[in-house]
Amino acid sequence: MNGFKYIGGELYSEDVKVAEIAKEVGTPFYLYSSGALFNNYHEFEGAFSELNPLVCYAYKANSNLALCKVLAGAGCGADVVSEGELRKALQVGVPPEKIVFNGNGKTLRELNLALEHDILMFNVDSDEEMVSLNSTAAELRKKARISLRVNPDIDPKTHSHIATGLKESKFGFEISSAIESYHIANELGNLEVAGIHIHIGSQITSLEPFMDALEKIAPLLTKLEETGIELKYLNVGGGLGITYREEPPLLLSDYRQAIASLVKATGLKIIFEPGRRLVGNAGILITQVLSLKETPHKKFVVVDVGMNDLIRPAFYDAYHEIKTVKDEAAADGIVADVVGPLCECGDFLAKDREIPRVRGGDLLAIFSAGAYGFSMSSNYNSRCRAAEVLVKGDIFQVVRERETYEDLIRGERFFEN
Ligand code: LLP
Repeated sequence: MNGFKYIGGELYSEDVKVAEIAKEVGTPFYLYSSGALFNNYHEFEGAFSELNPLVCYAYKANSNLALCKVLAGAGCGADVVSEGELRKALQVGVPPEKIVFNGNGKTLRELNLALEHDILMFNVDSDEEMVSLNSTAAELRKKARISLRVNPDIDPKTHSHIATGLKESKFGFEISSAIESYHIANELGNLEVAGIHIHIGSQITSLEPFMDALEKIAPLLTKLEETGIELKYLNVGGGLGITYREEPPLLLSDYRQAIASLVKATGLKIIFEPGRRLVGNAGILITQVLSLKETPHKKFVVVDVGMNDLIRPAFYDAYHEIKTVKDEAAADGIVADVVGPLCECGDFLAKDREIPRVRGGDLLAIFSAGAYGFSMSSNYNSRCRAAEVLVKGDIFQVVRERETYEDLIRGERFFEN
C-alpha cells in the first residue's frame, strides 16, 4: 500500500481527501499514512524472516509519537541517539530489549537513563566512551551490553553529508584498531561485549557497498573468534534508499539475497536500523501556493513551506516530487522554481521544475517527505513549525499541533535589570 493516490483527479491519503484535511487543519502540514507505515515495516521484516532479524527503526528519521506508536505496535524496535528519542521509544511501548543506543557523543545523563532501563545495547564509538560507560554501569551495579561501531571505509556513493562509513568520517573504530578495542572492552568488568555495528551511509541505492562492508569486516570477526571474543549480534545499520524521483528502489529481496549468506556465515543475530525505508514514502508535506511570480528571467512559485520545514533540497540538493493536490494534467504547464518565504536564496523546494500553472490558494503535495522532513525542521525566521496529521482508513487526526507564537517564545525571557 502506497498511502497516497489520485482518484478522479483528487489526491487521497488512504480513504481521505487531502483537500478536506487542508480545509480543516490549514497549511502547511505533514501527512502520514498509517497503512503505509505498517506495510513498510511488515514488508521489511518479512523479507528477512529467514534470518529472524531484530528491526530497530531509526527514530531520527521521524520521531512523531503517533507514527512511532504504529511501528512499535507492529513489533518494531528502536534505534535511538538521544535522551529524547529514548524517552519517546519507551513512551510508545518499545520494550527495552528492542532498543539500541547509537551516536558518537552520548552524555552521562543519557548513559544513565539507558542503563536504568536495561536497553538491549549501546553501539559505542570510542575507547573513551567505553571507559565512561563502564564506570557509569559500575555505579549503577549493572552490566552494559555493547557493540563496537566499526568503520569499514566504504564509499556508499551517496551525498557526502550522509556517507558515514568512509575513513575520514567521525564515526566508529577503524577496522585495524578495533581488535585492540574489543580486548580493552572485554577487560572492563561492567561491559558485556555483545556485537559489532556498521552503518555506512544513507539513501544507498546499490547493493555493492553493503556487501563490501560485510566482506571487509569478515576477517575481524574471524580474529575476534580466534582470540576468544564471542559476539552475538551483527548490526548492519540502515541506509536503504527509496524512490524520490524515478530511480529504481533497492529491492528488499535483492538485498536479502546479497547479504543472507554473508550474514549466515557469521552465525550472529542480525539487527537492522532502517529509517527512511520505513517512513520516507509514508509521508507527504502539504503546502499552499502564496503567489506565482514571473520575472523576465524566471518564474517562481512561492509557497507557505520553506527550508525550515523541509531542509533536504537546500542541504543535500535533494529532489522531492511536487504535484498539485487537484491533478491538473490538462492545465497548462510552466517551468519554475518552487520557493519558500524565508530570507535566503537556499530556501527552495525545487529548481526549474515543470509544474502546472498554479495560482495563490492552490494546494501542492511534496512527496517522499516522511523521513528527515519534520525531524529536521526548525523555527528559523521565527516560523512556527507545521502540523502533523496521521490517516488511518477514513479517519485523520492531528498528531502534532501546529506551533503557535506562544510555543515559539516558550522559555525565552527578558533580561531583568
Ligand atoms: N543507523 C545509524 C547509525 C544512522 O546514523 C542512521 C542515519 C540510520 C541508522 C538510519 O539510516 P536510514 O535507513 O534512514 O538511511 N538527514 C539525511 C539522512 C541522515 C542519516 C543519518 N543517519 C537525509 O535527509 O537524507
